[in-house]
Amino acid sequence: MPQKLVDGFERRVDYLRLSVTDRCNLRCTYCLPAEGFRFLPHEDVLRYEELLRLVHIASGLGISKVRVTGGEPLVRKGILGFLERLCALTEIRDVSLTTNGVLLESLAEELWAVGVRRLNVSLDTLHPAKYAAITGVDAFWKVWQGLCAALDRGFSPVKINVVTMRGVNDDEIEALADITRSYPFHVRFIELMPFQPEGYEERYLSADVVMERLCAMGTLVPARSENGNGPARYYQFLDAPGKIGLISPMSHHFCPSCNRLRITAEGGLRTCLFSDRHVDLRGPLRCGCSDEEIAALILEAVRKKPQRHHVNDGPVFQRKCQSRPMTAIGG
Ligand code: 5AD
Ligand code: SF4
Repeated sequence: MPQKLVDGFERRVDYLRLSVTDRCNLRCTYCLPAEGFRFLPHEDVLRYEELLRLVHIASGLGISKVRVTGGEPLVRKGILGFLERLCALTEIRDVSLTTNGVLLESLAEELWAVGVRRLNVSLDTLHPAKYAAITGVDAFWKVWQGLCAALDRGFSPVKINVVTMRGVNDDEIEALADITRSYPFHVRFIELMPFQPEGYEERYLSADVVMERLCAMGTLVPARSENGNGPARYYQFLDAPGKIGLISPMSHHFCPSCNRLRITAEGGLRTCLFSDRHVDLRGPLRCGCSDEEIAALILEAVRKKPQRHHVNDGPVFQRKCQSRPMTAIGG
């Protein structure tokens, strides 16, 4: 496959995050505003055919890995059929899914059957009441059962994404890390990003603090990640079946190794999570542009991919991501 997607800083772009919906069955405090958030009208969301066409075009440019995100991808009607078609594309060697896990227990079998093998599941706490406070829905046990169903079915790896927040779940760092001593989960601690700037400064906790706490728990050895250039740094407790990941978008830039593109539910191509700059692909898709014309738009956007984000260049209290919540951008 020709690798045509190389940006202005010599980074090879081979990974696409595809948001299939901006809707979600949870309302995580750090993701969505408490009120006043409007979901996209259905006609503005890319149809599955349009998404598959974009993946096909992108694969011709060197994209070989696709992660399906949302919102919550499992709430979109027809998602299993879409995933099946995506997994069947031979040019895409890796399809993975990011989900909040609420519907995972009921769908684990079918997700496996259509060809998905890798899952990321969000879970920030082991306390059901706290889970309800963070997400607005009393679904802790559903998610836990979903995680167990995924392991039983053989998904590997099953990653648990924990957004660490001071005063919210920082008292659970050890308990969450301890899961890796009993289960082969990869527990990944993610620094809070300022999508909801209110209360950000108080809640932000650097990955260095998390690391110190983990080191006090026992011997941690660096572990290999199965996907060399992802943003996580991996470690493992001696003899533990699981791994621990640290993802520090705020305190340590991973921009130099960034290999990804994002396509939002409404067909906006974004080359950086933290930038509002996007290229509309839905218009061209719907007005009869050829594959070559759309490929040219993707190439041009990648050429202009920003070198790094500047969200944390100023003091913590000034940090703010662009106007759009995570649900709209696709994690
Ligand atoms: N900061 C860090 N991570 C976030 N996510 C959503 N919003 C934020 C934020 N403000 C995470 C979710 C999920 C992934 C898709 O993005 O927890 O794991
Ligand atoms: Fe929470 Fe993810 Fe849904 Fe946002 S998209 S509300 S982070 S589950």
